[in-house]
Amino acid sequence: YFSKSSTRLLKGKTVLITAGPTREKIDPVRFISNHSSGKMGYAIAEEAKRQGAHVVLVSGPVQLASPHGIEVIKVESAEEMYKAVLEHFDHADVVIKTAAVADYRPKTTYAHKVKKQEGDTMLELERTKDILFELGQRKTNQLLIGFAAETNNVADYARKKLEKKNADMIVANNVKTEGAGFGTDTNIVTLYKRDGTVLEWPIMSKSAVAEKIIEEVTSLLKEMGR
Ligand code: CTP
Ligand code: CA
Repeated sequence: YFSKSSTRLLKGKTVLITAGPTREKIDPVRFISNHSSGKMGYAIAEEAKRQGAHVVLVSGPVQLASPHGIEVIKVESAEEMYKAVLEHFDHADVVIKTAAVADYRPKTTYAHKVKKQEGDTMLELERTKDILFELGQRKTNQLLIGFAAETNNVADYARKKLEKKNADMIVANNVKTEGAGFGTDTNIVTLYKRDGTVLEWPIMSKSAVAEKIIEEVTSLLKEMGR
């Protein structure tokens, strides 16, 4: 359902969201990826839409139906995600980078299936572009929200990412905690803001987390006078 237009928090705003994993091809039958299900990002996209935003969802390969009324751009690799995000960045008021982007890709993508050989042990990798970092360098007045999925030292790593990537907020979780990992329908997150504010939320459904993140986004926009 849609809330009354008078109470729709993101009316007239464009929200760019990335979700899911990326896949970095080794050859036609193999790739490097991760366990991201895309559920958190899709839930945020649905909620932003429900709050009246124009939503652009750049999605890696996931097993989720495209939400109605949302512009979904399907990508596979980090490089494709980077290009799709940059294309929409200028028009975005808010960017929410939920995607679990692969940090490395094979240096060579082979056209044919690679055959194993005696003594081969190495796959040569190179770094992908850090999309959030690039956006942090380019941002004019976009509100920039990053995610951090950690297994330890969550607060420390989240604060470092906030700083390094010039983000306005980092939503962090410990993926080793029961109920907060990849693929679950619930999440346990802590929000780190630039003014030092830390918001620690209890376990909630991913749609409830999405609702509260969008509320937070709205108040950050207000603080920025937008
Ligand atoms: N991110 C990105 N592009 C990348 C890697 C990460 O845009 N190539 C974004 C993610 O979408 C997320 C944030 O950066 O919003 C943090 O991602 P994370 O993987 O936790 O951080 P990294 O900087 O990659 O550091 P590390 O994986 O070493 O913890
Ligand atoms: Ca990473």
